[in-house]
Amino acid sequence: MKKYDTMKNYYSRLIIAAGAAIASVSGLAASDGIKVEHLGTTNTIVRVSGDSKYLLMPVQEANEDADVKVLVDGKLDRSIKVRLAKSKVDYTVPFDLTPYKGRDVVLNIVTAQNRSTVREAKDDACWRNFALADTFDTANREKYRPLYHHTPLYGWMNDPNGMFYKDGVWHLYYQWNPYGSKWQNLSWGHSTSTDLVNWEHHPVAVEPDGLGMIFSGSSAVDTENSAGFGKDAVVAMYTSADVSQIQSLAHSGDNGMTFEKYSGNPTLTLESEARDPNMFWNPQTRQWTLLLAHALDHEMLIFTSPDMKEWTLQSAFGKGLGAQDGVWECPDLFELPVDGTGEKKWMLICNINPGGPFGGSAAQYFIGDFDGKTFKADTDAEGKVPTKWLDFGKDNYATVSWSDAPDGRRTVIGWMSNWQYAAEVPTSQYRSANTLPREVSLFRGADGQVYAATNPSPEIDAIRGKASVNAKGVSFGSKAKTFSLPKANDGVCEIALTVNPRKAGSVTITLANEVGDKVVMAYDPAAATFSMDRRKSGAVDFSQEFPAVTVAPVFGTDRELTLRVFVDRSSIEVFGNGGRFAMTNLVFPAKPYSTISLAADGGSAKASLAVYPVLVK
Ligand code: FRU
Repeated sequence: MKKYDTMKNYYSRLIIAAGAAIASVSGLAASDGIKVEHLGTTNTIVRVSGDSKYLLMPVQEANEDADVKVLVDGKLDRSIKVRLAKSKVDYTVPFDLTPYKGRDVVLNIVTAQNRSTVREAKDDACWRNFALADTFDTANREKYRPLYHHTPLYGWMNDPNGMFYKDGVWHLYYQWNPYGSKWQNLSWGHSTSTDLVNWEHHPVAVEPDGLGMIFSGSSAVDTENSAGFGKDAVVAMYTSADVSQIQSLAHSGDNGMTFEKYSGNPTLTLESEARDPNMFWNPQTRQWTLLLAHALDHEMLIFTSPDMKEWTLQSAFGKGLGAQDGVWECPDLFELPVDGTGEKKWMLICNINPGGPFGGSAAQYFIGDFDGKTFKADTDAEGKVPTKWLDFGKDNYATVSWSDAPDGRRTVIGWMSNWQYAAEVPTSQYRSANTLPREVSLFRGADGQVYAATNPSPEIDAIRGKASVNAKGVSFGSKAKTFSLPKANDGVCEIALTVNPRKAGSVTITLANEVGDKVVMAYDPAAATFSMDRRKSGAVDFSQEFPAVTVAPVFGTDRELTLRVFVDRSSIEVFGNGGRFAMTNLVFPAKPYSTISLAADGGSAKASLAVYPVLVK
């Protein structure tokens, strides 16, 4: 495997490729090697010849999808949907021609727009902007692309899924559209990292087929060759999504770089909507265990299997429990010790959409016991199963864990967006980032319940630069004390804060820039809550669901509050009181936030503040 690139180097290395994509938006006639034949108002044939690596397809996001059938030597190779440009080209997406070198490639395209005449249809911007190129421009042209969070090189991304760790490498797959920055053509994109900060991007790992798109799922290393795909084969189980949702298997003999679909697919079918299979080897029962989201029934189905192919339904968990709005998706189940006790508990993650505490999607979880067949959730003093949230922001969804992580770690990552507006956020070359990878641990709260704490994975400590602010014992009252944020890398940083409110009624922590954009975080010691207000954070009007104030219980043991705040161009992630609460919110400031101000109401407060610029290799 080649040496891992940092994302930054990767982008800059590819800048030289920019010419091809830019030429394609300048309105030139389609290049040599592309022949366009119009067959009517909605049907067009595009013939491609020559040895170029990519066919660049011009996209206009506001347009409807065109159905593109790709024929190779007369045989249907694949069908994809692309928002082909009508009046203007927003960006191009590459169709990889390398597998078809020397063969005839024909696109049979049906556009959605009804044109009254062929002449009108011929005028569509896409026809003169299809282009052939040997490179595709993935240089970062967007100010909101995070520096130290995982993003796809281009195109739409939702759920992280299928993650596993093997031989020192963290494999991250994700729901990916390689042909546009809106949800479509779902495939498993693939990135790897050895340090959970720098990601190398790989070719698509699992592509749609006759059973449908490739929705979310999980992977596991089959150390005992129970499935018969070979010892240590990586086996992926995912949802094939067409008219129905069914479960399929794919296996990899090269550590997850390429997958072969199992010839017996689908392996598991039901009569109702079920998706996002999450399987793991349970050493206690010596069986594979599978959680499958029975999405519309608001329950998780639990199956077992000796070989990942034949599954036996053992139980269903969740009817009537926890947050029941929306659909149940993307489950996970694992066992962890409860800090400071000799006890172990099972944690069942259940992502829901909508129905999150602040609207739209969110990750809820249950703590309980699992006997290999049935999960039983803990109840509170009144005998009810309490609703628990993994993150109290609006932008943490589809959180699931890596299988086979080292040293007993339970490392999770979430999609840093919300289905309410994910497709509308003001980026275009790519859409969506993932959260920081996080370590899950369990603690017993003051109410006797077991809760999950999440903290940034320890690898993230390595990106802390030398503190640009290191202020201890700062006193402040109603007049704010203001400190600068780093200028480098558009102000991306980590802020570490310890706040002692003393007698103050509330403490506010404000990130602001010189054009008036601001994010106001507030600690209310009496209510024991922490909130974040992004209503004036920058661009907020792309969706009426975006402006919001999110609130978390601080799970404190005293009035002092500790915070780690990670700012990365368009995201703010807060980990409070040792990860006992987390809050993740997107922001789109016109300019990077340049200051942090501390103020207190109703008395003076004290804080220690350190600001660390982020250093990425
Ligand atoms: C969750 C989800 C999953 C599904 C995937 C499709 O965000 O709806 O349930 O597998 O996205 O992209």
